[in-house]
Amino acid sequence: MTKTIALSATLEMTEEKAKKAVLYVFSGTGNTQKIADLYADALRGGGVSVTVHKITADFSDLPDPAGFDYMGIGYPIHAFNAPEIVTDFVKSLPYFNFPESLIPAQRKEYFVFKTSGEPLKLNNASSNKLVYVLKKKGYRLTNEYHYAMPYNMVFRHGGDIVRKMWEAAKKLCPVDVAEILSGEKSLLKKPFLGKPLAYLFRIEQFAMRVNGRFFGVDRAKCTNCGKCVKNCPTSNIRMTDDGLCFGWKCVMCARCSFYCPQNAISIALLNGWKVNGAYDFKAAGDCAAEGLKNNTANGCEENGLKKNTADGRAAEGFSAGYSFDGCTDDPSDPHADFCKEAYEKYFARAQEKIAAAKDKMKIAAKTEHTAQNEQSEFDGCPDCFQSSNFSK
Ligand SMILES: Cc1cc2nc3c(=O)[nH]c(=O)nc-3n(C[C@H](O)[C@H](O)[C@H](O)COP(=O)(O)O)c2cc1C
Ligand code: SF4
Ligand code: SF4
Repeated sequence: MTKTIALSATLEMTEEKAKKAVLYVFSGTGNTQKIADLYADALRGGGVSVTVHKITADFSDLPDPAGFDYMGIGYPIHAFNAPEIVTDFVKSLPYFNFPESLIPAQRKEYFVFKTSGEPLKLNNASSNKLVYVLKKKGYRLTNEYHYAMPYNMVFRHGGDIVRKMWEAAKKLCPVDVAEILSGEKSLLKKPFLGKPLAYLFRIEQFAMRVNGRFFGVDRAKCTNCGKCVKNCPTSNIRMTDDGLCFGWKCVMCARCSFYCPQNAISIALLNGWKVNGAYDFKAAGDCAAEGLKNNTANGCEENGLKKNTADGRAAEGFSAGYSFDGCTDDPSDPHADFCKEAYEKYFARAQEKIAAAKDKMKIAAKTEHTAQNEQSEFDGCPDCFQSSNFSK
């Protein structure tokens, strides 16, 4: 009897101690979801239980943020902003603890993680509208992180840089999550032009709804598999007797056109920027997607294509920029130097942060050891007594 009471008391205490996190995530083509998965893993590693809520146009039955110790929002950057579906989603979140939350320190804290094709700082103001809406509802942004992930629009990134982005994200996310768990605040600096640019480009949201109405399908290619209909987050696509029909609710997430197995969907005015086919984050995507050998090491050469690595390009007499097109028989790649400086800075910053975190961990481990020694000394451990500061 006494044992049962003691056991249930322990269980209650454990339950009380276990912290909970909710991640609200919108991801058009999976990049932000991959980052959310890394966050969830890192949070779980820190002893936090995690609920991931995928944002769709249906805002009913949301997990209430008040029931969680940590709250995160993840989204892909669309035209320097959060997608409209994400701002609409945060509008649907409940007011937090009013009127106490009128005092900033009493607000519900949350963090944001976002992805985009290039790491330009101009993207830093993308959360502005969302932050504004949430502030009025009693929430306070404490941490914000931005990860470069491959473009699902504009042009297709090549295998080298895709792998590099993914490797950086895999190492950065646990470091960033550790920062959140430690209570250290971290917000992105908004560049001078970031705010007005984000404001101006919000016109994209209306334009995309109109553009989406004019998506088309190549009937010769379409196999009526229904994948696009099933997966559209706003249920904007209908299968009719006359073929597929697109409505006015498009948020231009690119999911339908990106994942269409037949590459049958045209995205109206943006068709020149369409990217089709999942990236392969392990090996180089482009070659594999084309049924060619990997774009690693000599894969391209074996395929009779030029090696589109920095060295390969240099050997061909072209600028040794990042390779964006994977295997190519045209090394005069128009995107080779695209935002090169911004990527270089991004990877350098990532490396710095990861290295600093490792150093911090080493220092923490040392401090822990010293603390143990000090503790041991108080406990009268003769070994530590010899070497500790207290013996001097
Ligand atoms: C409509 C649209 C607009 C985009 N605008 C930007 C942008 O302004 N800056 C950028 O770097 N990437 C932009 N991208 C690329 C995505 O942000 C990037 O590929 C992101 O990782 C996609 O994430 P997801 O797979 O979670 O949707 C845009 C993509 C789409 C579909
Ligand atoms: S995903 Fe492509 S092939 Fe399948 S129904 Fe849609 S358009 Fe047709
Ligand atoms: S129609 Fe396509 S691009 Fe538009 S919201 Fe649906 S899946 Fe996304």
